[in-house]
Amino acid sequence: MKTSIALIGFMGTGKSVVGNILAEELQKQFIELDEFIEESAGKSVTEIFNDGEIAFRELEINTVKEIAGIDNQVIACGGGVVLNRINIDRLQQKAVVVYLKASIGVILKRTIGGSRPLLNVDDRRARIRELLEFRRPFYERAADMTINTTAISPAEVARQIMEKLKEDESLHFEK
Ligand code: S3P
Repeated sequence: MKTSIALIGFMGTGKSVVGNILAEELQKQFIELDEFIEESAGKSVTEIFNDGEIAFRELEINTVKEIAGIDNQVIACGGGVVLNRINIDRLQQKAVVVYLKASIGVILKRTIGGSRPLLNVDDRRARIRELLEFRRPFYERAADMTINTTAISPAEVARQIMEKLKEDESLHFEK
């Protein structure tokens, strides 16, 4: 049985906010993957990206390896975690993988002002569309469950996830 939840999805789809709510409701530990990476590297995500995206992805793989075997946690993953299949294989040992999706308009609004090196370009909308198109099959392939967060509150997203975890026996989730 699985006792953890891993939230995946594009930047701005609500992984951290929803993850916090879920962790509190289910009394599990909340883990923000990017924060773990920053701690172990002793640098911010932006600084790590200055050494190139590959440097960041390597740290991401190591961090997932470190935490994926732990029970009873809710993990908010960075948006690119799906790009390396090994991360998903590792996360799925203990966690139900939940894919949060949202419209481009909503993602655009929710990512204003944040420090996201990949969106640090003039035409953010075009960049989001391009990344989303490339990544969509990776998210879909990794997902045990999908929730569209475009028009609902984080609390409602969390409620829907908990309902599905309870009802769908094929997810093998144990509270
Ligand atoms: C990334 C998403 C970010 C962070 C990094 C790369 C991505 O996390 O890991 O900037 O490739 O989509 P959030 O999805 O939490 O913003």
